[in-house]
Amino acid sequence: MDQTLVVTLMVNGTQVTRSVQPRQHLVDFLRDELGLTGSHIGCEHGVCGACTLRVNGEIVRGCLMLAVQANGCRVDTIEGLSDSKELAKLQKAFHEKNALQCGFCTPGMLMAAQDLVRLNRKPTREEIRSHISGNYCRCTGYQAIVDAIEEVVNG
Ligand code: FES
Ligand code: FES
Repeated sequence: MDQTLVVTLMVNGTQVTRSVQPRQHLVDFLRDELGLTGSHIGCEHGVCGACTLRVNGEIVRGCLMLAVQANGCRVDTIEGLSDSKELAKLQKAFHEKNALQCGFCTPGMLMAAQDLVRLNRKPTREEIRSHISGNYCRCTGYQAIVDAIEEVVNG
């Protein structure tokens, strides 16, 4: 019989306690156990950034962290940041600049972009590109994404 461990974490401001398999990744836990499917799963080995989440204020790869490692942590997902309106400016800019096509990369891209917004400085386009370099987009060619982020961070 598989062993399970009890974890308690704060997800988008709500305390959650569940029994989890020790091998379950955080992004799978959020999607499968809590129905928070806004965090996507692409490569499952830390390359594409589709699973980007915020844990204790820092962005992490949800596919590289186990749910048990998040025990006691605060976890924020795209759903939480959307509901709190923290992402409102970026979402508006992405929409207006056509910075998404299929949308698969968009939640992770917005999480990474908001991390840059929170640094509260005026990055160059190269610095914006560098900051999102761990988030892959197969559709847009990045130009419109950088345009949208630039409008928010330098606007
Ligand atoms: S699914 Fe986590 S980095 Fe690709
Ligand atoms: S919009 Fe399709 S992967 Fe980025």
